[in-house]
Amino acid sequence: MQAWVIGNWKQNPATQHAVNALVNDLKQTDRTCLAPSCRLMVAPSTIHIAGVSAQLQGSGILCAAQDISAHSASTGAYTGDISAAQAFDAGARWSILGHSERREYHQEDHETLVQKTQNALSEQLGVIFCIGESQQQYDDKQTLEVLSTQLDVIADVVRRLDDPTILSTQLIVAYEPVWAIGTGKVPTVDEVSATHTHIKHTLAGYHNALANTAVLYGGSVNAGNAADFAASRVIDGALVGGASLKAESFMTIAQAFA
Ligand code: G3H
Repeated sequence: MQAWVIGNWKQNPATQHAVNALVNDLKQTDRTCLAPSCRLMVAPSTIHIAGVSAQLQGSGILCAAQDISAHSASTGAYTGDISAAQAFDAGARWSILGHSERREYHQEDHETLVQKTQNALSEQLGVIFCIGESQQQYDDKQTLEVLSTQLDVIADVVRRLDDPTILSTQLIVAYEPVWAIGTGKVPTVDEVSATHTHIKHTLAGYHNALANTAVLYGGSVNAGNAADFAASRVIDGALVGGASLKAESFMTIAQAFA
């Protein structure tokens, strides 16, 4: 299966100048060894989507939005929101939804995420759907139960879609244990592999079209540990935060999955 390595820049870099420098660095990297086995994507802040996607045109690196509106897929009186249609028009082709930072700081719940996912798909924006357990849930051995509950969003979307087969090309799932994000702590590759097997099995149970969904690992992936995760046949790539802010480490991670 083709791997994905996706850089989530979160609320970074601080200035337009720094964004330009990062994009230039990315464009200067040698990516010939990646195709066709590994696809690359970056998710800049909303304000930078149009500029970054324009600069990356023809580079083979796709652009994603970090969030989209739950309220309307197109336009409306929703101050501060960005719609799926606007993200697509700005150059994004995917959207990161359900990230734990959105769940925590913006109280995104099941129905909100169903709406956002439906809005994205209605505007041909692919969905990178994030799930993951907290430290407490991990310690209490509730990981698989928690993930199944979070994946119910996808089950609901499948039920509501006229044509769920679009999910075969429009859905990526990212497993990100909350306790591993930005902490330098990572689960073992065996733990991640067992979790991914559960996720894939769950998705396949929703609809045949989801049987080959790419499932990425995220949480303190860096240039030093990426090869360990890439060695597992059920880890289809990485969602990278901090290490995606330097072109060199991002490309080292991509090469591990190529
Ligand atoms: O979306 C990316 C994840 O939250 C991982 O972030 O690589 O900085 O731990 P991190």
